[in-house]
Amino acid sequence: MLEVLPQLPADPILGLSAAFKQDTNPKKVDLGVGVYKDEQGRTPILNAVAKAQKILLANEDSKTYISPQGVQGFIDGMLELLLGKGHKTLIEQRIAAVQAPGGCGALRILSELLKRCNGDLTVWVSDPTWANHIPLIGSTGLKIETYPYFDREKAGVKFDEMMECLQHVKKGDVVLLHGCCHNPTGADLSREQWHAVLELAQKKEFLPFLDIAYQGFGDGVEDDVYGLRLLADNLPEVIVAASCSKNFGLYRERVGLAAMIGANSKVRDALQTQIQAIARGIYSMPPSYGGALVDIILNSQELRQEWLGEVDAMRDRMKTLRRLLVNKIREKDASLDFKFVNQQKGMFSYLCISPEQVRKMRSDYAIYFVDSSRVNIAGISHQNVDYIAEALVAVL
Ligand code: LMR
Repeated sequence: MLEVLPQLPADPILGLSAAFKQDTNPKKVDLGVGVYKDEQGRTPILNAVAKAQKILLANEDSKTYISPQGVQGFIDGMLELLLGKGHKTLIEQRIAAVQAPGGCGALRILSELLKRCNGDLTVWVSDPTWANHIPLIGSTGLKIETYPYFDREKAGVKFDEMMECLQHVKKGDVVLLHGCCHNPTGADLSREQWHAVLELAQKKEFLPFLDIAYQGFGDGVEDDVYGLRLLADNLPEVIVAASCSKNFGLYRERVGLAAMIGANSKVRDALQTQIQAIARGIYSMPPSYGGALVDIILNSQELRQEWLGEVDAMRDRMKTLRRLLVNKIREKDASLDFKFVNQQKGMFSYLCISPEQVRKMRSDYAIYFVDSSRVNIAGISHQNVDYIAEALVAVL
């Protein structure tokens, strides 16, 4: 029976890593999977994480199961990081939340919860969106539609078209929004645009579903959750999937948070049982380790400060690399204007070149990035930037 299943093509993002590893070109450059890298191309363990690991090792005295919702200190710390200390939804006890196996795990169980609420609803995702959003959410059987988001000609958000489309969203439909550092385009909503989204959500009564995987990589840990806090301040219901892969560098530990703001504490209590039952039916409970590290960091004054400094340093470095790339391209061909890359936020930029040109970058120069033209800015370095710029100029 098992032979009925065909072999699938490589994952559009993760498949690039395997192809990159096999490439023997000494000049090869990996701008594919969204992983932070330093000047030497390494993804180091953050200092705050290394210290938390020692503390955990010294203090953990059992490997028995943790509670179904995960590490409570992690959940509390994350909710405070996302919403701010003493947020009214916390005081009013309106938030149900569980630790999840990564942002992916959070997206999946929240989608299952939406399905339980109403199997007929539609989830609206931006065009384009992260390549795994549609498989993750779609695997629940929920309907998915796209709203216009990115204008490749102008290399920015096509906000008027986005809003025009969302006008037609039905009451109770779900709109997936990237809280910050839009993946794949790096093009974020401005504060004014978040206010307009809030007004539309109030008018049309759709449910905002925020995916926050890069908090701190855009403008800062506080600034990057402006949209989330605005919606949480003013709407009865918001759902959030957050990831600690990037800003804590805990990729392989799979640490994320699934949170649901309900209209009141009674709704919250029911949601908490539902989300735990969903997790129990898929993976029972989250792994403890990564959540325990984040708990230690967020709840220690000293480690939290150290971690915030490390997030600032990663963000600043990526901003510098954006400028470096834009300047190098201009140096090599003054007619090419890539300065929109400086306006984009976070780990990714959309270079707005064609899939054929992306594939030529791969085949002729061993520079790997996603067919959509998404590059991982953190993969650029002072050593490879000339080579990348020369290849781009040649391909264009
Ligand atoms: C990415 O977008 O490259 C990362 O989030 C890794 C992944 O799982 O796709």
